Amino acid sequence: KKKIAIAIDGPAAAGKSTVAKIVAYELSYIYIDTGAMYRALTLKATNQSLALEDETSLAKLLQDTKIELKQSNEGQRVLLDGEDVTLEIRSQIVTNNVSYVAKHKAIREEMVARQQSLANYRGVVMDGRDIGTHVLPDAEVKIFLIASVEERAKRRYEENVQKGFPSDLEELKKEIEQRDLIDSKREVAPLLKAEDAIEIDTTSLTIDQVAQKILEAVYDVI
Ligand code: C5P
Repeated sequence: KKKIAIAIDGPAAAGKSTVAKIVAYELSYIYIDTGAMYRALTLKATNQSLALEDETSLAKLLQDTKIELKQSNEGQRVLLDGEDVTLEIRSQIVTNNVSYVAKHKAIREEMVARQQSLANYRGVVMDGRDIGTHVLPDAEVKIFLIASVEERAKRRYEENVQKGFPSDLEELKKEIEQRDLIDSKREVAPLLKAEDAIEIDTTSLTIDQVAQKILEAVYDVI
């Protein structure tokens, strides 16, 4: 069977990483979470109290920053300059600031270059916002996942409750809407469905149903 590249894009909290991991596991492909890379840089920038609108300083910071995505028994780990930041990059402060870091052209150019070299061979599932449009424009399968903002906030809320994190449904809804707005309106590589992407509305689907739909699209081409 031939190995391909699968691009999964969509708005915040649409379930991209959850289904991407299942699809990668089923196919024995590697999974690359590009959002984690922007989150790691945002964590470092906020720890250093860098002004997030300062593109030049952020770009310089990124030059001196090593971000690794490591597969381990406990799932994917994210290393920032060798330090495990898997949990920290999901914090509220990173989530609320990441879109301001990700909108800069210089940051995106460097991140896209790094992502392309990570996916330099086939047998890869990559998720993000601009994978089908910019990072892997020649991906054999492109998926655009959507769901209503109510459903996405509800899923995130239930996830937080399960993890024992305090959470407010209305607050989550606002955060998700705000992040989508910035990601969709930015000048460089905004969140956009690629022309040749398959759109899947996951609002009333289970995780497994979504994964199955993606796998069907994959089996059509491999
Ligand atoms: O996927 P996740 O929600 O972790 O992504 C965090 C943020 O990183 C997004 O809201 C977006 O601002 C940015 N991002 C991006 N391009 C990608 C992946 C993520 O701009 N390919």
